[in-house]
Amino acid sequence: MPRLAYVDGQILPLAEASVPVEDRGLQFADSVYEVCAILNGRLLDWPLHLARLGRNLGELSIAAPMADAALNLVARRLIAANRATEALLYIQVSRGTAKRDHGFPSARRPTLVMTVRPFDFAQRVGQQAKGVAVIGVADQRWARCDIKTTGLLANVLAKQEARDAGAFEAWLVRDDGAVTEGGSTNTWIVDAGGTIVTHPISPRILPGVMRAAVIEAALAAGMPLLERPFSLDEARGAAEAFITSTTVPVLPVVRIDGHAIGKDAPGSVAVKLAAAIWERIASQTGYRP
Ligand code: PDD
Repeated sequence: MPRLAYVDGQILPLAEASVPVEDRGLQFADSVYEVCAILNGRLLDWPLHLARLGRNLGELSIAAPMADAALNLVARRLIAANRATEALLYIQVSRGTAKRDHGFPSARRPTLVMTVRPFDFAQRVGQQAKGVAVIGVADQRWARCDIKTTGLLANVLAKQEARDAGAFEAWLVRDDGAVTEGGSTNTWIVDAGGTIVTHPISPRILPGVMRAAVIEAALAAGMPLLERPFSLDEARGAAEAFITSTTVPVLPVVRIDGHAIGKDAPGSVAVKLAAAIWERIASQTGYRP
């Protein structure tokens, strides 16, 4: 697969793709992003990613780099140029390049960057069968975690802490004890009565596209679901736990801080939801792992 990137109107080899050093994304993390799954050469849940990108740009008063239809064309052209089948599309929009000054620059020309990189979705099948470990880490992020900005330092540190502990993900815990989400995933438990629980949509979490898909699948299957905060203690005692994201379509959690969850193996609710999400993926893209 060739590695081609899109930067500000041009498709060029990734190694040659760059933005100016005074790009505000680089200096201030004054930028938003999306990560979209490409399966069988097709974008999964593309309209939902486009809508979230548009909302996030609006929340930060960053001008849209182009109309959605044009963004759609660029994305598809880049996917085709990369001959991508199973891959991730990364989109980043910064407020643009200007002399370093915290306030917004008067000339507003946002910088649009897109990359495509191969991604092995099938690896998730084995992980889904075994489950993964997570650890609790203090949630040190700002007050607008609902906006998908590239200001990811707290997430980076939390994920590294998890990696150093041999865990797959960090579960972020606020001062009041609530588990908000993971370093790059949404977090879920299943209580003793079989109710699926996840943190409600709020400025404390990213409204994940996969989160919405899982809620839809759970409701369609008549599975009980509650959007409410839960603590790490409650999670440790839960019947099941799992995480979701574009790159992790339902991954059972079998250990939290070394404590076995449920039967120390993926639970039936997570397994059922994983199957429903693979079906959703197949119906949209034709991809089966
Ligand atoms: N992360 N929460 C956080 C903090 C995230 O960074 C992500 C996604 C999610 C899940 O969102 P979605 O289901 O839309 O992928 C939740 C992407 C994949 C990333 O940063 O790589």
